[in-house]
Amino acid sequence: MRVTLVVNGEERSADDVWPGESLLHTLRERLGLPGTKNACEEGECGSCTVLLDGLPVCACLVAAPQAAGRTVVTVEGLGVNTVQQAFVEAGAVQCGFCTPGLVVAVTDLLDREPQPTDPQIREALAGNLCRCTGYEKILDAVRLAVVRRGAP
Ligand code: FES
Ligand code: FES
Repeated sequence: MRVTLVVNGEERSADDVWPGESLLHTLRERLGLPGTKNACEEGECGSCTVLLDGLPVCACLVAAPQAAGRTVVTVEGLGVNTVQQAFVEAGAVQCGFCTPGLVVAVTDLLDREPQPTDPQIREALAGNLCRCTGYEKILDAVRLAVVRRGAP
């Protein structure tokens, strides 16, 4: 089947999508957007986080046909934003596999809550697993991004 959706502000169509195909697969393999990572494919790690109609979801758990006619923002659609810069500067990127999902999740958090407390940060990122950093550098990156973005 053909699935048409708006990805990063552009209307895109994918052909030959099968009914149970994940949005993650469609983004990576049919629409040429490999920034969204595939680590567990079962909703456990958050590496595949994208915004679907403005809300963070695991793209591996969304069937691509369910996203038809809806709006998706991937890490590519965020461009080089303050959050991404802060991750680099704070040393929060090691293997980098979790990073795209975290950048999407943190950007969403700071858009909703520009001055989050540490518990709010931890709660917002509870679904994003990182095998490398021990999370402290990730928290540092979020705090740095808060400062860089400035008070609302
Ligand atoms: S790949 Fe989707 S949650 Fe891990
Ligand atoms: S930097 Fe390797 S999984 Fe997070």
